[in-house]
Amino acid sequence: MLAFVTTTHAQATRHADAPPLLLGVAWYPEQWPEAQWDHDLTLMQAAHVHLVRIGEFAWSRMEPREGVYDFGWMDRAIAAAARHHIVVVLGTPTAAPPAWLTQKYPDTLRVSEDGVRDEHGNRQQFSFASTRYRRFAHDIAEQMAKRFGHNPDVVGWQLDNEYAADSFDPDAKAQFHAWLQHRYGGIDALNRRWATAYWSQTYDNFEQIPVRADHENPALLLDWKRFVTDTWRSYSINQIDAIHPHADPRQFITTNTMGWFDGFDAYTVHQVLDIAAWDDYVDAGEDYDWVDNAARHDLARGYKRRNFWVMETQPGSVNWHATNVTLRKGVVRDMAWQAVGHGADAVEYWQWRAAPNGQEEYHGTLLGADGTPVPVYREIQQVGADFAKAGAVLAGTTPHAEVAVINDFDGRWAINFQRHAANFDPVAELKAFYRPLRAQAQVVDVVSVHASLDGYKLVIAPALNVLTDAEAAQLKAYVEQGGHLVLGPRSGMKNADNGLQPQGQPGPLASVLGGRVAQFYALDKTVPVVGAAEQGSAKIWAEQLQVESPQTQVVLHYGKSNGWLDDQPAVLTRQLGKGSITYVGAWLDDGLLDRLTASWLQEADVHAPLPGAPQDVEVCVRGDARHQVVILINHAAAARRVSLPSTMWPVLAKGAASNEVSLEPNGVAVLDSREVAANR
Ligand code: GLA
Repeated sequence: MLAFVTTTHAQATRHADAPPLLLGVAWYPEQWPEAQWDHDLTLMQAAHVHLVRIGEFAWSRMEPREGVYDFGWMDRAIAAAARHHIVVVLGTPTAAPPAWLTQKYPDTLRVSEDGVRDEHGNRQQFSFASTRYRRFAHDIAEQMAKRFGHNPDVVGWQLDNEYAADSFDPDAKAQFHAWLQHRYGGIDALNRRWATAYWSQTYDNFEQIPVRADHENPALLLDWKRFVTDTWRSYSINQIDAIHPHADPRQFITTNTMGWFDGFDAYTVHQVLDIAAWDDYVDAGEDYDWVDNAARHDLARGYKRRNFWVMETQPGSVNWHATNVTLRKGVVRDMAWQAVGHGADAVEYWQWRAAPNGQEEYHGTLLGADGTPVPVYREIQQVGADFAKAGAVLAGTTPHAEVAVINDFDGRWAINFQRHAANFDPVAELKAFYRPLRAQAQVVDVVSVHASLDGYKLVIAPALNVLTDAEAAQLKAYVEQGGHLVLGPRSGMKNADNGLQPQGQPGPLASVLGGRVAQFYALDKTVPVVGAAEQGSAKIWAEQLQVESPQTQVVLHYGKSNGWLDDQPAVLTRQLGKGSITYVGAWLDDGLLDRLTASWLQEADVHAPLPGAPQDVEVCVRGDARHQVVILINHAAAARRVSLPSTMWPVLAKGAASNEVSLEPNGVAVLDSREVAANR
C-alpha cells in the first residue's frame, strides 16, 4: 500500500459530539412558520442529516431595525435541530444586507468598474472595502457570537457567502492607492517596477493611478488582484475579530469558496481561516467531469493542507445553467463519496427545501414545496446511511500524496490578462497535467508554490508564469534535495511585477535547467512533436527551447511546422544529483503527456496504490498511522471489477474480506486495511 507521507493533517471537524463524517443541508428556518420546523427536522433525521447551515442570508430577520436584534428564532431553530441530533454552522449574514442599511447608507453599496452603484433586491450588493459596511458586519457578527459563541450545538461559523464581487467605490480606490504606497514605498519605485515610461504612464503621485481590473498595465492588473485578495482577507479578519473573543475555540471559522474561481488568491485568504470549505457545483449534464471535480477537491484540501468541508453541493440539479439537466440516478451518491475520498469530512446539500418564492425557485432540493421528499431524497438518505457506517473508520484519516501539482494565482492571472493564444486557459492547462497524474498516481495534492514540498517525490508546475526569486530558490532547493520538478510552458516568464524576466524563460530557473526559451509561438494548428521512440503533437502553444549546458538533454523536439520550430527542442531535462528538472515547452496532446507522465513517475519512484485499476474507477485512499481506507467509485455506467493489492475489509457492504471488489454502475466501495468490527 501507500508509503505513509505526512503532508496534510486530518480531520476538519472539531466538535466532539458531531459524527466524524457529516451529512448536512442548507436550511432556511426564517422562510418557514416555526410550526413546520419539526416536520422538516424529522425528515432530516430520517435521512441521517446531522448538520445544518443556517443564517447566511437572514440579516433582516436578525436585525430588523438598526441596532435592534432578534435572535430568539435562531435560539429556537438551533434547539429544535439539536433535538434531532443535528449540529449547526452559523453563517454571518453579510452577503445580504437589510434594506434599512442600504437605504440609509447608500455608500455601503458596491460600485461596478464602470461606476454604477448596485441596488437592493439581489445579494452581494455591498462594497467589500467600505469602512462603514465593515462596522455593520463587525457588529452583527459580534452580536451573533455573543449569543451563540458558547452554544454547544454550534460547531462553527461561515463568514459571509461565496466572496466574489470586488468594488470600485471611493473607499476601495483610496485603499488601493494606500496599498500601492505601502507596497512600493514611493512613487519612483512604482514607476521603475511598472516600467511606466511605456505609453507615458509615469505617475507623480499615487492618487493619479487608475483603479481598473482590465485593459491596463499588467503590473497594475496583478496588483489590483493582490489588493482584492488582501481586502477579502481583512474583510474576514474584521468578522473573525468580532467572533473570536466571544466564541469557544472549538468553533471553527471558514468561508465557502468556489472551485477554480480566481477573483482572489485563496491561499492568502485561507491564512486567517481555520478550515477550507467549498461549494461543489458541476457543469450541466447527467454526468460530471469527475477528474475536474477531483482536482477541485484536491485544490480545496490544499488551501489548509488538511481535510475540508463541502459546504454546498447540488441535490441533482441547479437553476443557473441554460438547461439544468439533473444528474443521473446514482451520480449524487457517487459525488458525495468522491468528496470524502478526497478529504471532505462533511457534505452539505443546497438546499433542503425551496423557498416559497425568490430567485431560486427551480433549484434542486430534498423536499418539494409541499414538504414531502422528492426522489433524490432517497439517494441522499443512502449517503447518510453510508456516512453513519463509515464515519468511525474514516475518522482521523486523510489522503497522503507523493506527487503535487502547483496552482498559482499570480501565474493564472498573468496569463489570463495576456492570453496571447485565446485557448490557453491556465486551468485547462493545469488539468491537462493533472489528468494523467490522477490516472497513474491516483492520489494527488494541489498546492501553492509557497507550500513546503517536503515529502513529494514529483512536483509539477503546469504554468508557473510569475516566478519570484524566492519561489525559484525554493524550487531549486527542492531539486537539489532529490526532488523531481516538471515545469510547464510559460513558466518563469514574468517577475513579481508581471514584467518580463530579462533572461527569458524559465527566468531564475534557467541556469538550473541549463536551458531556456528562445522564442514562443501561439498556435492555430497542431505541430508534430517527436522523440527517440515517441510521436505526438503540440497545440495552442509551442516554445522553441535552447540547450545551454552539456548536462541538459533534449527529451522531445518539434517536427516540421512553421520553420522556426522545425527540429528545435520541445522538452528539456537535467539531472541534478538524485533530483531533476524538466521543462515542457508546449501544450502536448493527451497521449504524449500520458506517456511522459509515466516516465516522470517511474523516475521519481512513485507507485499508485492500486495499479491496474480500470480508468473509469476512481481510486481514493485516506489513511493514518494505523490503517488505510480505500474508496473506489465506479464512474462508468457498467459494472467493474477491481483487484486489491492485499486483503481488505468492506465497510459499507456486508461480506468477507477479499482482495477483489465488484462495483455496480456508479457503485461505491469503501475498504479498510484493518478488520472492520461490524464484519467479524
Ligand atoms: C451558491 C450560493 C447558494 C445558492 C447556490 C445555488 O452556491 O452560495 O446560496 O445560491 O449557489 O446553486
